[in-house]
Amino acid sequence: SSVTIPPPACMLRPLEVPLRYLFGPGPSNVPPRILAAGSRPIIGHLHPEMYEIMNDIKKGIQYAFQTENNMTIAMSGSGHAAMECAVFNTVEPGESVLIAINGIWGERVAEIAERMGANVHRMVKTPGRYFTNTEIEQAIKKHKPVLLFLAHGESSAGLCHPVDGIGDICRKHDCLFLVDTVASLGAAPIFMDKQNIDILYSGSQKALNAPPGTAPISFNDRACHKMFNRKTKPVSYLFDMTHLSNYWGCDGKPARVYHHTGPVSGFFALRESLAILAERVKGYFPTSSVTFLNKKSPFFICVLQDLRLPSVTTIAIPEGYDWREMLTYIMKHHCIEMTGGLGPSIGMVMRIGLMGYNCEKTNADMALHALADALKNCKKSKA
Ligand code: GLV
Repeated sequence: SSVTIPPPACMLRPLEVPLRYLFGPGPSNVPPRILAAGSRPIIGHLHPEMYEIMNDIKKGIQYAFQTENNMTIAMSGSGHAAMECAVFNTVEPGESVLIAINGIWGERVAEIAERMGANVHRMVKTPGRYFTNTEIEQAIKKHKPVLLFLAHGESSAGLCHPVDGIGDICRKHDCLFLVDTVASLGAAPIFMDKQNIDILYSGSQKALNAPPGTAPISFNDRACHKMFNRKTKPVSYLFDMTHLSNYWGCDGKPARVYHHTGPVSGFFALRESLAILAERVKGYFPTSSVTFLNKKSPFFICVLQDLRLPSVTTIAIPEGYDWREMLTYIMKHHCIEMTGGLGPSIGMVMRIGLMGYNCEKTNADMALHALADALKNCKKSKA
């Protein structure tokens, strides 16, 4: 019998992908070397050569996170997968968690924790503001959480949150310290072991410059103790660390058994991006902050200089302009992606990301030039 749905016309046309400067908060442009690694021929996800590559990735992540944790893997999925994995595995329904919210990521984690039945306590600040260690300790004493979440790289606000001392406070109160470095890894220093961070995760598509779809995560012994002595099973089968630890050869068992099919090409690309990170001679941070707005700029940087996230800069929307119109103009005339705010920072800021490979003065100059052009050519409202 013949098909009743005809082949769609769009499928008979070739794939078209424009070239773009990805100067938003991610994904960032992927350098040719990483693209090439991702286009190598596929092998089976359970072939011994693949295990070698996964072992290399584990070592690369341990370096990037500055940790010796054995329980270090890459999730099959974006940074969100790692975020959910962290919460699902270390928290059980009914337990208290404390979430620091000063942008979108804390809001997300609070919702994830609520969905799995945790007792969620929120500490909230305006995007761009930070929590002092004293405020954090007071909230921990009050709510007695099993887990504290903090975003190191709050990309919606352009803030890099200080983490020194917070891990020690968490230890003192028997609470796990979970840190999100999706937007900051490779751009701002983080030292998982030295800073007593119990669970740390990131993403592939920001300063690591790999395609979206894989996400490094690591658990220390305290976190492993909690997650492997649970009374209930985690709500997600895909993200269950008992299975994932076996898939990544972290559970000490002689054989890895099938759990799910990992993104083989994505792992090739991630390995290459971690190799580039390891090859850098001047310390392990590939990105230094590129200061691309001078004092005379009509754009005002929204975060204190000391707390600026090097990878994502938030600038105030110039008075009288429509940010959406400016961003559309910049995309149309300069092929540059910049974005507006996200979550609580929508309508407050525009965001420019220069991450890893993209973090060059010439790119900063291009971004500034495009912004200046938009100021000249976008309508200024009368109101
Ligand atoms: C997403 O990751 C963002 O910060 O926009």
